Amino acid sequence: MRFQISVLPGDGIGPEVTTEAVRVLEAVGQKFGHTFQLTEDLVGGISIDKHGTALKAETAEMCRRSHALLFGAVGGPKWDDPESNVRPEDGLLAIRKAMGLWANLRPVKVYKFLENAGPLKPEVVRGVDIMVLRELTGGLYFAKPKKRWTTSRGRRGVDTLKYEEREIERILRAGFELARGRKKKLTSVDKANVLETSRLWRQIAIELAPEYPDVAIDHMLVDNCAMQLVQNPSQFDVIVSENTFGDILSDEAAVLAGSMGMLPSASLSGVPDASGKRRARGMYEPIHGSAPDIAGQGKANPLAAILSTGLMLRYSLGLIQEAECIEQAVDQVLKGGIYTPDLTEPGKPSINTSKMGKTVVEAVLDN
Ligand code: IPM
Ligand code: MG
Repeated sequence: MRFQISVLPGDGIGPEVTTEAVRVLEAVGQKFGHTFQLTEDLVGGISIDKHGTALKAETAEMCRRSHALLFGAVGGPKWDDPESNVRPEDGLLAIRKAMGLWANLRPVKVYKFLENAGPLKPEVVRGVDIMVLRELTGGLYFAKPKKRWTTSRGRRGVDTLKYEEREIERILRAGFELARGRKKKLTSVDKANVLETSRLWRQIAIELAPEYPDVAIDHMLVDNCAMQLVQNPSQFDVIVSENTFGDILSDEAAVLAGSMGMLPSASLSGVPDASGKRRARGMYEPIHGSAPDIAGQGKANPLAAILSTGLMLRYSLGLIQEAECIEQAVDQVLKGGIYTPDLTEPGKPSINTSKMGKTVVEAVLDN
């Protein structure tokens, strides 16, 4: 098969990790007989420097026309001024909107060898395997009015928390579908004791539940969920929430994994079904961000970007066996005790970014 893939490496360690992800993708193409036509362009700070905007309209159009987008990371101290009218993050938000990526999947899996790596006790994080599903194109991020202005009584600011029924319904359905393909448990997160949007959210969740009798749903207030995530994270399977809650909870959940360097993500324009056979256009990105402090030093862990490529094969290209091949290759490398610096204690042996990419490529080709 032939696929059109857009590649936006971005800033910081984005280009380094994306290079390795592309190598692994090409190895999969070679092994399974697929052609991936890759088109690369700029996004984020590097695009601001060159074009004065974080995402050119042509680049957004190219992404819209491709089967999927591999994304690195955006941002860095050079473009950090919050008062600037162009910001690297704008590129990310513009892509989400342009490609209609309303479903953000952030799987958090605790690998055995990282049980001791994070701040929580190993017995608390052991076996954790959570899918955080975040609504990505609604709520406070995009709804209008959204502005700052000066009045005679001082400055004011407003953001708007607004949700339509169809936006809530589709993300909840995505949650039920994902839970179906996993441990069949869905935790719907809201703040229904205070917010009207949350009351609507909960009402719709309750109405949809009978259509998914095989999935056990519970409703949890977001503040309680934040606490449960560190107290008893293994109770969760799929967590579904609105945009801002999902932003916050997914960062919190990421801490459970011990290293950000292992966590992939997918942002989709459709509902994946339980078998992964239904395809949706999507963008795939490691969650670790641009990490400017280690950029260009070969220290970055490319596994999150490589695993993101696996998610792309699964959700946007419908290539399940190929996705599993990448996941198994990564598992095998880690089981062999081969680590990048973030995965091991200081002073212990580790390999650099490109060596890790090469090792995964070899495991893909050997399997
Ligand atoms: C994320 C990030 C973004 C968000 C920022 C960079 C705009 O925090 O992907 O979680 O808030 O969505
Ligand atoms: Mg975030």
